[in-house]
Amino acid sequence: MIELKNVNFGFDEELILENVNISINKGDLIGIIGPNGGGKTTLLKLIMGFLKPRSGKILLLKKEPEEMRHHIGYVPQNSRYDHDFPITVLELVLSPMAKESKWFGRYPAHLKEKACSLLEALGLIDFQNRCFGDLSGGLAQRALIARSLIDDPEILLLDEPTSNIDQKTREGIYEYIYSLKGEKTILMVTHDLNTIIENVEKIFCVEKEVSCLLPKQVCEHFALGLYHTPLRGSHD
Ligand SMILES: Nc1ncnc2c1ncn2[C@@H]1O[C@H](COP(=O)(O)OP(=O)(O)OP(=O)(O)O)[C@@H](O)[C@H]1O
Ligand SMILES: [Mg+2]
Repeated sequence: MIELKNVNFGFDEELILENVNISINKGDLIGIIGPNGGGKTTLLKLIMGFLKPRSGKILLLKKEPEEMRHHIGYVPQNSRYDHDFPITVLELVLSPMAKESKWFGRYPAHLKEKACSLLEALGLIDFQNRCFGDLSGGLAQRALIARSLIDDPEILLLDEPTSNIDQKTREGIYEYIYSLKGEKTILMVTHDLNTIIENVEKIFCVEKEVSCLLPKQVCEHFALGLYHTPLRGSHD
């Protein structure tokens, strides 16, 4: 589904990501960990085609990332939004579909139904007419997840979807993400390694280079008291 071969990337001479080789199967749930500035967000932006590799190849279903962008749902890190911007939760969820609305804000009934069912699934239906900017961090994050799913993406990229959120809300968000397993191919940047370890197919540790670990290998690291961030593949 997603293939990176010998990918190098840097904003200037210095490489931010070096010789990245990864392969992700359809329906996989991948956890991405690594230190601040390690290149996690950059990796997601390369997969979306917003950044171009200096060398190497990125293919999504054997196509160039730009061609596949409309198959990708994205929840950005620390989503910046204007708290005074007058948009309701329902409008926010529908906003990626603006191209389908005849007049701004008038969406076809089937899209409204879809948005409502996503809001229902994420426990937000009672907030649909609230101003998005008034929501607490956890509710806002759930609204952004609903928004990322409105166009039925095959691939879902989540960049720290639960940062700055209380434990209980965080668990609810993870449960929802796990419920999409198999149906979507999911890459999720997170610092909650021990929370997600049971539910992911692979863990990518991003610190300029990307090493791939199976949950079993991560548990062995824990058992041996070798935990450090990022965990490195046994080949290192
Ligand atoms: N637009 C940019 N121009 C120049 N350098 C950038 C740009 N965006 C990111 N960087 C640098 O690239 C490196 C990787 O950044 P990136 O945001 O991918 O890290 P990250 O792993 O997502 O970190 P965090 O855990 O803090 O989110 C950092 O050193 C960062 O300063
Ligand atoms: Mg980041």
